[in-house]
Amino acid sequence: MNLAGHARWRESVISANFVAPQHRPKTIVVGAGVIGLGIAWRLAQAGCTVTVYDRGEAGRGASWAAAGMLAAAVETEPGEETLLSLTLESQRLWPDFARELEAASGIAIEYRSEGTLVVALNRDDAAQLRHSYDFQKGLGLDLEWLSAAEARQREPHLKPGIAAAVWSPRDHQVENRLLGRALAVAARRAGAELIEHCAVHEIIVTGGRATGVEGARGRDEADIVVLAAGAWSREVGGIPPASLPAVRPIKGQMLALQMDPAAPLLRHVVWLPRAYLAPRLDGRLIIGATVEERGFDARLTAGGLLALLDGAWRGLPAIEELPVAETWVGFRPGSRDDAPLIGPAGIDGLVIATGHHRNGILLTPVTAAVVGTYILGGKLPELARPFSPERFSRSARPREAVQ
Ligand code: GLY
Repeated sequence: MNLAGHARWRESVISANFVAPQHRPKTIVVGAGVIGLGIAWRLAQAGCTVTVYDRGEAGRGASWAAAGMLAAAVETEPGEETLLSLTLESQRLWPDFARELEAASGIAIEYRSEGTLVVALNRDDAAQLRHSYDFQKGLGLDLEWLSAAEARQREPHLKPGIAAAVWSPRDHQVENRLLGRALAVAARRAGAELIEHCAVHEIIVTGGRATGVEGARGRDEADIVVLAAGAWSREVGGIPPASLPAVRPIKGQMLALQMDPAAPLLRHVVWLPRAYLAPRLDGRLIIGATVEERGFDARLTAGGLLALLDGAWRGLPAIEELPVAETWVGFRPGSRDDAPLIGPAGIDGLVIATGHHRNGILLTPVTAAVVGTYILGGKLPELARPFSPERFSRSARPREAVQ
């Protein structure tokens, strides 16, 4: 879908502020990552009684591990044209969402609007970058081809011999760890109860309807249960197999180097052929990320770190002198088609919001808005329909049953 198509879609799109809800169902959210917390915040703001459970600390899963890039343009690959309508809408919501969240929580989340550079180091990279650029420009995205000199004017510490770059003026970043913290505070201040270190063992389904959860603190009943447990969503019991969200963990190894915050090596998010770099206001330079199918294996590997450091060093040699501040592993919730699962799960009272894969931070505002609209108004906004969790169960049915 190009930008004109996207504008048409927008007619039906939710805004960050809800219309007056017809009812205010008591809601339990399973998972206190940015997706679950965003939904909880919106529902609590609308007057619902909301309880959020997390097996650990709020915001400490993929939300913590992420790099915070809000990259609707440069992360769009062939086959993701439908996803683009959702990522662009969320990108449009982000500035107001950030302002509202900061006001509600009193926490600055470092939403930064310097844009993103995608850098080609040699002629082969440049040919590949040209291919992506042509594809993304064809979708109507706002991108500009830069010479090596133009790229180095924007980022003087890039290696002198780079081949070319693409400038993406609308792909920004946010400090995802502060985002998680701010959402937890805002949700609580709006009236949501947040229960951490309390695993939900089972979603209770009675007579084809989700009626609550059973967990470490016993049974808790609700009108609606939202499953937003990211890569762990299939670990929650009680859901009939046909409604289990088709997600799996996609491991990402990452690290942070420490720059001098008064003299950072980079100002923009920079994508190199084998690593991306996100500079933070406190001087950390986030370098990510591997993409690995290794289940929940949380080990850092020499190969993973070597690939990231080598990938970063080839474009930004000055990192050589920087101390390593942190290393970590995260698990993206990947789906079969790399798009999120948002909406009803085929069981009354059960709503899914997971599978955000590489785009969880970017898609937080739009997911909170569409799930809120669905729970309060009973209708999934048009924009979110292609991401119905039922798309997988439908395609899995035998042919005759689909007619
Ligand atoms: N969106 C960046 C990542 O998933 O590594």
